[in-house]
Amino acid sequence: MTTNKKTMIPTILIGTALIPNNGGELRLTQRDGDFYISLKGVSGELMSSRMYSSELALAELGCAHLQELENAKVLVGGLGMGFTLAAALKATSPSAQVVVAELVPGVVEWNNGPLGDVAGRPLDDSRARVHLGDVAELFKPDQAKYDAILLDVDNGPEAFTHDDNSALYSMDSLHAIRQTLRPKGVLAVWSAWHDPSFTKKLKKAGYNVSYKTVRAHKGKGSKHTIYLAKVK
Ligand SMILES: C[S@@+](CC[C@H](N)C(=O)[O-])C[C@H]1O[C@@H](n2cnc3c(N)ncnc32)[C@H](O)[C@@H]1O
Repeated sequence: MTTNKKTMIPTILIGTALIPNNGGELRLTQRDGDFYISLKGVSGELMSSRMYSSELALAELGCAHLQELENAKVLVGGLGMGFTLAAALKATSPSAQVVVAELVPGVVEWNNGPLGDVAGRPLDDSRARVHLGDVAELFKPDQAKYDAILLDVDNGPEAFTHDDNSALYSMDSLHAIRQTLRPKGVLAVWSAWHDPSFTKKLKKAGYNVSYKTVRAHKGKGSKHTIYLAKVK
């Protein structure tokens, strides 16, 4: 347990989880009723239960075309605290299926345990399914099966949690994702900043691209970017 000297509010370590392939260690802490996931040795948080509006927006914007669609299929990359998964389930019909890919087994355990309530236990929804592993394993150009792919595995289109994630945003990967999407499908990518070169790259990979700036929490806080790349 550590204590914030200014406020004397203790920070409690709830658990640690190893990232596969020697990727480091994630830490789950709790302070003043809120949860935080951080990467050991890196300042700042990867995720907090205090601010999650842009994680919700990722699913609301990326699934906006799916509300009325029967048997819609959505892939969420990165479970984190489950906010994007919960919003994707909310944005889709009762016949939808939402697959969430999570690289770190401990994160899934936390969501089935102490973290479960923060996003309303989305893993308990019978429409949700977990793929334990790299989201890239599900990009299969020969099988166009998702109507939306929502990516929030890092701070943006640059590796942060996991060095291998830079490959996710390579031209080859963006082509593979496009071919994994059904006609009119949407790739939505969360980013902590706006990078015009990523918009260009998405266009070059054959998408119709737009982006939206969203605030971290209820119209306040940092400005995040959601890229929306639509299959032509
Ligand atoms: C910022 S958090 C996601 C937050 C999430 N949008 C939410 O609503 O809570 C990133 C998550 O992606 C996971 N992750 C990182 N790289 C991944 C990959 N290549 N495939 C699947 N999951 C990955 C991390 O372990 C972490 O749980």
